[in-house]
Amino acid sequence: MRLIIQGSNSLGGKWAARHIAEKINEHQKVSDKPFVLGLPTGSTPLSTYNELIALNKAGVVSFRNVITFNMDEYVNLPEEHPESYHSFMWNNFFKHIDINPENVNILNGNAEDLQAECDSYEEKIRKAGGIDLFLGGVGENGHLAFNEPYTSLNSRTHIQTLTEDTRVVNSRFFDNDMTKVPERALSVGIATVLDSKEVVILAFGPKKAAAVQHCVEGNYNHAWPITALQTHPAGVLVCDEASAGDIKVSTYRYFKEIEKENIL
Ligand code: GLP
Repeated sequence: MRLIIQGSNSLGGKWAARHIAEKINEHQKVSDKPFVLGLPTGSTPLSTYNELIALNKAGVVSFRNVITFNMDEYVNLPEEHPESYHSFMWNNFFKHIDINPENVNILNGNAEDLQAECDSYEEKIRKAGGIDLFLGGVGENGHLAFNEPYTSLNSRTHIQTLTEDTRVVNSRFFDNDMTKVPERALSVGIATVLDSKEVVILAFGPKKAAAVQHCVEGNYNHAWPITALQTHPAGVLVCDEASAGDIKVSTYRYFKEIEKENIL
């Protein structure tokens, strides 16, 4: 696993965006097939999305031949609700780039048969040829997508009951009223993420320090789903100084040294 420690959230986002743009461009030099990109929501990926939008506008990268799959969506929240992940993705990313709307895939949390929706999402990913790069964030409790602690580390796309911790954290988007936060979500599974050719996880700010510490130094354990990244052959964790604050000084120095050419 690579650990890239940048000086700030904005530099971490810049690094991730440039990395993604490079991967899309490299792929398009050798293949006509679309690049398949997995995407997250949350406040963490905003710096990456802003930089990708800037790179797209500057003509450095195009999304015309990119298919996206989002990680998760709330259950029973109308798509047009301002806090649905559909709204989030269109407002913060898709409407600013040259993506073909038909290439955007987001789980439907209002489907009549939620399990069938999850199964067909897995099938769509398979049909697209699998995910080339999955970008993700991490919850304060170590959740990956909405795979809460003790979800199987081999899980596939499924209906997930949200923990109280997560609903309290996410209530900041719902007038700080936890009763307005949906109790369930649809989420890609951990195995769905790990099947991707590359996984890039972003973690910024002091509230993510425990999750980062477990991911880098902890044991592979379903209590901290993010530790599953340890098993991926091309896993990358992008941090800032604050989120790297709980790892050992020796670990910090080790990664700073081996990644010194990648620090912006
Ligand atoms: C949300 C999302 C996750 C995201 C995480 C962190 O609940 N389902 O995919 O990574 O929580 O959110 P934030 O980036 O706002 O800290």
